[in-house]
Amino acid sequence: MVFYFTATGNSLYVAKELDAHPVSIAQAIHDPNKAYQADTIGIVCPVFGHEMPKLVKEFLKVSRFETDYFYILLTYGNRHGGAAELAKAYVEALGIHPAYINVILMVDNFLPGFDMEEQRRIDKKVDEQIDRIKADLAEKKHYIAPVTEQDRAAHWEFLDRLAHAPDMFRDLYEITDDCIGCGICTKVCPKKCFHMEGQRSVWNSTECISCMACIHACPMLAIQLKMPEKNPQARYRNENISLCEIVDANNQWAEVQE
Ligand SMILES: Cc1cc2nc3c(=O)[nH]c(=O)nc-3n(C[C@H](O)[C@H](O)[C@H](O)COP(=O)(O)O)c2cc1C
Repeated sequence: MVFYFTATGNSLYVAKELDAHPVSIAQAIHDPNKAYQADTIGIVCPVFGHEMPKLVKEFLKVSRFETDYFYILLTYGNRHGGAAELAKAYVEALGIHPAYINVILMVDNFLPGFDMEEQRRIDKKVDEQIDRIKADLAEKKHYIAPVTEQDRAAHWEFLDRLAHAPDMFRDLYEITDDCIGCGICTKVCPKKCFHMEGQRSVWNSTECISCMACIHACPMLAIQLKMPEKNPQARYRNENISLCEIVDANNQWAEVQE
């Protein structure tokens, strides 16, 4: 059983390589009875600020897992900052004992830091990384990805920056006059932060987890970051994942997801 969260498809791509029918955390969070039992249970998600996204942490907190082999795969783009160690500490505090945690270097979709055109051109040998992880999981290997002092320092430095600018990610987006009211942002947002007013999308920041699914999926580039970004004209979705799959993963407006 594989659970995933994704904004731009990297983590879904990995999840699909491991299981033909991975379960979206953005949907499973609404399961009335979040008790899951399987031989192996995996979580695949991106790294946000070196940690698992808030939505994933919330899901782990309110769920019960019964398995002999619990693993976590963290996709990241540039510096994982000790993500494996941080994830291990988080789940262990919940009473979950992970057998395996690994990190996978993929395209970095963090727009303030990276130009998506440049990112796409870098070969990060993703499939080789996934193949190695598949082999590990097949033999139920016990392993936690190593973390260096430099990784830990990067995380502390990030936390320090955040402490000095706690609203850094609060007021992220503006919707420009290029919005044509297609509503795609309303469907890819895992937290229902967008709604339509006439032919115009409106963003409410209250529940936003800054995953950037909306800004990457907007076909008109009508969602822009308020903070400086590397290339406002370049957006990203994993080349193996369709927009429909991102919608299926995250859409919060469908009445019942079967
Ligand atoms: C808000 C945010 C924070 C991120 N933080 C990090 C980070 O700390 N380190 C890193 O290497 N990548 C970071 N990334 C990049 C993503 O982890 C990476 O691109 C991931 O593979 C995206 O997965 P997805 O396509 O499944 O959403 C961040 C991305 C976002 C949107």
